[in-house]
Amino acid sequence: MPATIALPAELVARIDRVGQSHILAAYDRLTDAERASLLAQLQSLNLEEIPSLIESYVRHKPSFTLPAGLQPAPYFPNNPAASQRSWDQAGARARGLELINSGKVACFTVAGGQGTRLGYDGPKGCYPAGGVSRKPLFQLFAEQIAAWSRRSGHVIPWYIMTSPLNHDATVAFFTRHNFFGLPAESIMCFQQGVMPSFDMTTGRVLMSSPSEIATNPDGHGGSIAALHKSGAITDMKRRGITTLSYFQVDNATVRVIDPAFIGLHSSPADSSAEMSSKMIPKAYPEEKLGLFCSSGGRIEVIEYSDLPMELQRERMPDGSLRFLAGSIAVHVMGVAFVERLATDPAFSLPFHRAEKKVPCIDPATGARIDPAAPNGIKLERFVFDALPLCRASIVYETDRIEEFAPIKNASGVDSPESCTKLQTLRAARWLRSVGIDVPLNDAGEPDCTIEISASTALEPSDLSSARLPRTVPRGSSLVL
Ligand code: UD1
Repeated sequence: MPATIALPAELVARIDRVGQSHILAAYDRLTDAERASLLAQLQSLNLEEIPSLIESYVRHKPSFTLPAGLQPAPYFPNNPAASQRSWDQAGARARGLELINSGKVACFTVAGGQGTRLGYDGPKGCYPAGGVSRKPLFQLFAEQIAAWSRRSGHVIPWYIMTSPLNHDATVAFFTRHNFFGLPAESIMCFQQGVMPSFDMTTGRVLMSSPSEIATNPDGHGGSIAALHKSGAITDMKRRGITTLSYFQVDNATVRVIDPAFIGLHSSPADSSAEMSSKMIPKAYPEEKLGLFCSSGGRIEVIEYSDLPMELQRERMPDGSLRFLAGSIAVHVMGVAFVERLATDPAFSLPFHRAEKKVPCIDPATGARIDPAAPNGIKLERFVFDALPLCRASIVYETDRIEEFAPIKNASGVDSPESCTKLQTLRAARWLRSVGIDVPLNDAGEPDCTIEISASTALEPSDLSSARLPRTVPRGSSLVL
């Protein structure tokens, strides 16, 4: 049957005006289903912004300008008694617990990324990350959320941002695993937006097939708009949620909820309760962590790839790095703050440009192109670019072993192997704190693999009431 869906003349004119008529090159040969899908995709994109995006990000590489008077950001040290800045840890924890126990806190995971570096075929949250149990990342988080829900007497809602690339697979995974024991209605998966990917040399929008524009998720910064558009904010307001505990899907040991951090975030003396951040001291200057800086009294994150290496190498008289505060991409966000930004017509976060290999077709011939080198420009927004929009924002230092064990690469740094090692180091530290010996090898590292389940302990003090072995055998693998 010949296709019948005609091309609206007005759309043809708009596409011509923005210099992208190749998108419609194969329209006459498409089936009705393909035509409908291409027309729907075109409707969802902001065509009119394309020429300025090409001009600013494809034809030119935006140059990074170091903000005037850039300083390292001040932060609350992990040790509340540190002379550099002492703070009331018990008070902050009590304030955080009050919010959690009154049902005002929800978790928010950004899980829409493509995870290309890990080379895992599936949503990263499904990756078996438990050092011994091989529990998937989503389950490690779910067990913490379940434990906090039990403790607080409130079901803690969990919002998960996916992307069109992994939404269905993520939802199917949760359904298959019976939502890891959490009430299904307490989990809301919603999709972030996408941006067209551009041809690096011609500036034209790339086509992934004759009926589909190649797109990429619009970055975790897309979460601010997506939280609003998806109805997640409305759902939060209905449930009385005021505070979101934000974390990335790749960090196996993240504290999905941290009372002291939430308390600091909501301290009227220090913070606007709009958006706060956690940092760890960078291990070495080249470590690939965004850096907390401050300029003009505002906190901001500058990506490791943007901050000049001379600055990243600068040291203080005591030998520590001057720009020390590395971002682990853990934030607390006020729901009112997210709503204020998302509903402000003037709000937008800047785009960041990345050169990537984007499989596509040649629109003239329809031939498939599997590029061996980057051929495309992807544009993404970063959530931390919202920090300078806060009236005030705090940064809180945490401990790498306690809560930063990301899985980003297949091997080496930030890999499944380093993640398992960090889980063991943390477990060994917690066990020692309650008097249980952990065997060490010649390098002084635990000679065993241990994983402590969140249902056993969320923090070391929980172990004092847990049933534990008296000793840990050398070379053993244990889940406690
Ligand atoms: C990120 C941070 C870096 C920080 C580090 C800590 C950026 C640009 N950099 O680096 O400052 O020090 O983590 O681990 O974020 N995601 C989406 N949608 C997207 C893109 C990403 O939900 O469109 C999610 C991913 O699923 C993941 C997280 O965002 O949970 C991080 O994404 P990724 O691009 O891998 O960031 P990194 O380069 O690892």
